[in-house]
Amino acid sequence: MENKRPIYMDHHATTPVDPRVLEAMLPYFSDTFGNAGSIDHVYGAVAADAVKKAREQCAHILNTSADEIIFTSGATESDNIAILGVADQYAAKGDHIITCVTEHKAVLDTCKHLQKTGKTVTFLPVDKYGLVDPGAVEAAITDKTVLISIMTANNEIGTIAPIKEIGKIAHDHCVIFHTDAAQAVGHIPMDVEAMNIDLLSFSGHKIYGPKGIGGLYVRRRNPKVKVSPVMFGGGQEKGLRSGTLNVPGIVGLGKALAIAEKEMGRDEKQYQQWTSLMYNSFMDAVPDVMLNGHPTKRLAHNLNVCFPGIESKALINLLKNDIAFSAGSACTTTSVEPSHVLLAIGRSEEESHWAVRFGLGRGNGEEEIRECIIKTIQKIQKLELIKSAL
Ligand SMILES: Cc1ncc(COP(=O)(O)O)c(C=O)c1O
Repeated sequence: MENKRPIYMDHHATTPVDPRVLEAMLPYFSDTFGNAGSIDHVYGAVAADAVKKAREQCAHILNTSADEIIFTSGATESDNIAILGVADQYAAKGDHIITCVTEHKAVLDTCKHLQKTGKTVTFLPVDKYGLVDPGAVEAAITDKTVLISIMTANNEIGTIAPIKEIGKIAHDHCVIFHTDAAQAVGHIPMDVEAMNIDLLSFSGHKIYGPKGIGGLYVRRRNPKVKVSPVMFGGGQEKGLRSGTLNVPGIVGLGKALAIAEKEMGRDEKQYQQWTSLMYNSFMDAVPDVMLNGHPTKRLAHNLNVCFPGIESKALINLLKNDIAFSAGSACTTTSVEPSHVLLAIGRSEEESHWAVRFGLGRGNGEEEIRECIIKTIQKIQKLELIKSAL
């Protein structure tokens, strides 16, 4: 009997490496293995050229220049460098940071760590859609504020923040603006100039690139933003991120972004149709289904819903041979703590245990979407029957 794998619908957690990305990376593991820092010979020079090209590809999709891209191990590290690095560099100016309660732990826990060292952090609330109010950001700024860090797109509920507006407020008050764009870059257009962004974190494995590679955009002009290093060594990446460059990973990241730049518009249109179809079909079968996140200002490939009375873990378990999807944020931990994002948008603890997140991606097809709808509804009905028999 054919052993069919479940349909993969957890693309916020991670994505498969695109075959075109893998192909671009492969030579850099073996044949072209040079250290990009050892440019006195051809091995290193070839690697350095590949890194240069990838840096340009990353810069292009963000509308910036290659010298403003720092390669890291992923968005977690980029967030840490941005927040810890600015807090240290601008300590003489002030000790206050503004962020919001629905950020990824890479931002939240870095800020909480800084609190322990004596810094002041404002964690702004969000509304029922997960939106932070730009007016509240402005009101929170004091003469001691050095950094505002607000994510572009939420990894659980897909809500897209008013980044351009918040960036403008930050700049009007001469405050540095960082955004964790791990779920946004390569999915929606990002332009660091138009959006007033000074620091931007992104990650390879959310955009069909490899795991363990990412980047940080650091503004170098109008104005130049200074960031203290958080680790020390060989001085690579302008001294901001020491360590031998991960050349295959960097090549993969660049290629993944070059592909995304060309294809994201078309892909997102398709995802929009599919997530609408899923939501409408769920509504027909379960009229009290609740959408989590903003109805329109959201990532097209995200659908996060609560099926009232249906424990997400039970549903996922019943569907585990059919669909691979998530009960919340897969990138946090394996804990069964209610999601901090769902609580922040006003879901009760009980409701938050009903939430499931579908993250669509490049590998999905129309057939799979229909199969997902049918099987999900079947299992919900099964769980409802079991409940009513109890
Ligand atoms: C919004 C957001 N920030 C940061 C991260 C961490 O990214 P990485 O796995 O590249 O460290 C993730 C992914 O889990 C994310 O979704």
